[in-house]
Parts: sequence; C-alpha cells; structure tokens
Amino acid sequence: MTHGDLLGLPHHPDKPAPVRMYELLYSSLASQLLIAVAEIGVADAFGDEEECHVDELAKRTGSDPHALYRALRALATIGVFTEVQPRTFALTPLAATLRGDTKGSMRDLARYVGLPARQGAFNSLVYSLRTGRPAFDHVHGTDWWTYFAAHPELSALFNKAMGSMNLMVNSATLEAHDLSGVRRLVDVGAGKGHLVATLLHRYPEMTGVVFDLPHVVAEAAEVLLAEGVADRAECVGGDFLASVPPGGDTYVLSWTIHDWNDEDATTILRNIRRAMGDGGQLIVIDEVLPEGDSAHFGKFEDIVMLALLKGQVRTEAEFAALFENAGLRLKEVRATQAATSVIVAVPA
Ligand SMILES: C[S@@+](CC[C@H](N)C(=O)[O-])C[C@H]1O[C@@H](n2cnc3c(N)ncnc32)[C@H](O)[C@@H]1O
Repeated sequence: MTHGDLLGLPHHPDKPAPVRMYELLYSSLASQLLIAVAEIGVADAFGDEEECHVDELAKRTGSDPHALYRALRALATIGVFTEVQPRTFALTPLAATLRGDTKGSMRDLARYVGLPARQGAFNSLVYSLRTGRPAFDHVHGTDWWTYFAAHPELSALFNKAMGSMNLMVNSATLEAHDLSGVRRLVDVGAGKGHLVATLLHRYPEMTGVVFDLPHVVAEAAEVLLAEGVADRAECVGGDFLASVPPGGDTYVLSWTIHDWNDEDATTILRNIRRAMGDGGQLIVIDEVLPEGDSAHFGKFEDIVMLALLKGQVRTEAEFAALFENAGLRLKEVRATQAATSVIVAVPA
C-alpha cells in the first residue's frame, strides 16, 4: 500500500507537473474529509469491534452508507482506515487517533481545525498575502484572542485541542530534555496546564505555576487534580504582555511564542527575563524552521500563524536575534521526535 505524503497524496516526481498540480490543488480535501469523519464520530462507532461493515458504521453515525463508503475508501488511500473486505473497514493506528475516548486523541483537534470561524480565515488568505496581516481579523472584525474570549464554547474546544497536541509534544519533549533539579517551573501561556501536570508528575521535587489568561487558567485545576499534582501547582491568571509571575528558576513557552510578531514576542521575552533572575533558564518548545527548500511541517504551521494571528514560526537565527533583543542568549537547540524542538535560552 502506498500512503500519501504530508499533503495527503503520493509524491511522484516523475508525474507531469500539471497532474501533480491538480493533485496538490485538491489535497485539502484529505483534511476536510478527516474533519467530517471526526465530527460524525466514525472511529468511535467501531466500539470494541476490530472491523465493521460500512452500512453498520453509517447506522451508528447517522450517515448515508454509500457516501460514508466513498469517504472511507478515499481515506484508506492515505492510511486512515483500511478496507479489509469489500465494504468492511478496520481502524488503522492513524484512524484510531480520531477516537474521542483515547489518550492522545486527535478528535478535538480535528473539530477545532474544522471550526467555520477558523476555516473562514483561510478562504481569505489572499488578504494576508497582500497585507501581511491576519485574515482572521479581516473576516471577523476582531483578533483571535478577543474572539475566543467572547465565545466560551469555542474557547473550550481550542483549549482541549491544544491539550491534545500538548500530550503529543510533551512525551517527545520529555525524552529530549532532562529537567531534574528544576525547583520552580513557570509555564507561560500554559493553556489548561497539561505540560505542568505532566512535569510535576514526573519530577516529584518540582513545583509549578500555570500562567495564562484568566478565563483559560480557570480550566486548569481539573487537569492538575487528575494528575494528582494540584498541591504543588499554582494557577495564575494574567497578561504576559504586561508581566509574568516572578520566582521561577525555569520558564517555559510551549507552542506560544510563534503566536506573536517580533515586537510582541520581544515584550513577552523581556517580561520573562525580568521575572527569572540571573540564574534562570527559559525553555521554548516550538518548531525551528530549516533554511531553504528543506521540508518541515512548521513551514505550513507558519501559514496558520500568518492567517490567524500576528505570529510566525522562526528559524534558529531568528530565535537568536529575538533572544538577544530581550537580554537573553540562545544556549542550545535540541530536535525531538515531534516537529517541535527544545530551545534553551539563558540570561545574556
Ligand atoms: C497556542 S496556545 C499554547 C498553549 C500551551 N502552552 C500548549 O502548549 O498547549 C497559546 C496560549 O497562550 C495564551 N495566551 C494568549 N494571549 C495571552 C496573554 N496575553 N497572556 C497570557 N496568555 C496568553 C492562550 O490562552 C493559549 O493558552
């Protein structure tokens, strides 16, 4: 079986360019189909069964049997579901990530990616290309963070989706970087606190601060309680463009600095530098773009930042310059199993 590349279609360099372009232009259909089958809960509909006839899956998900067959047949070409007998499908490891009931589930992420408010921005990508400004703001008349603060149900889905990604990134990060000896870790833009919960669980001597916007940290207590670490964690609501909690020996920015342009990112980093004292360290968990044509998922994530936020994904040189402006020095960059790297900065 041949599975697709990053964009969902097999890459055959010997294909005529118009044929390949035709395929590329249609490649977003893979994403749209994944979002749709996640929404109707096809992976969950297997229950405990290893394989299931499409008519039964259609009954369980309230969908049209032939339409669902066509969807699963298409997704099977990229390794999501497999047709084990005519019209009978099984979950593949990729398809299983769309179940809602598993650790590491990507179902909430799929539903978040499919939000009409988010997709609408990509329909106006030309605006971002022409102006360099977020299409999201152009379409919705307000910026991303204000929009989500005003829509609690979307904010809850966004935070859950970030939590799913965080689980994936956490394990890769923990394998790449030893944090023994860290006394007090402050996660800046911590979301619901999944990373702090995982780290406190792993390092019994560590205490942690979950710092995020007030309406976001309000959701963190349940995550910390579930990991049994609530007694060593503090939740602080605030605005990192104004200040961050002092007293940490280690500050973390996980999947957060890429949401901001250089000016705002420098403000956030300066606030962290001020809070950390001379012996501290900052750990940034983020994508680091290779220069030139080299393939990297972050080069597409960067387009998400362009369309939705004033952010950007950065190269190592861009990180180094950003740190320098904030009184920090890039100490090391370590690749991980995920697309993200661990970037360590210390006071200059
Ligand atoms: C892309 S999410 C990353 C969340 C988390 N670190 C993770 O790895 O899943 C960025 C986080 O920054 C937070 N944030 C945005 N603006 C903020 C502000 N002005 N002050 C504090 N946190 C903010 C958001 O609420 C969100 O949780």
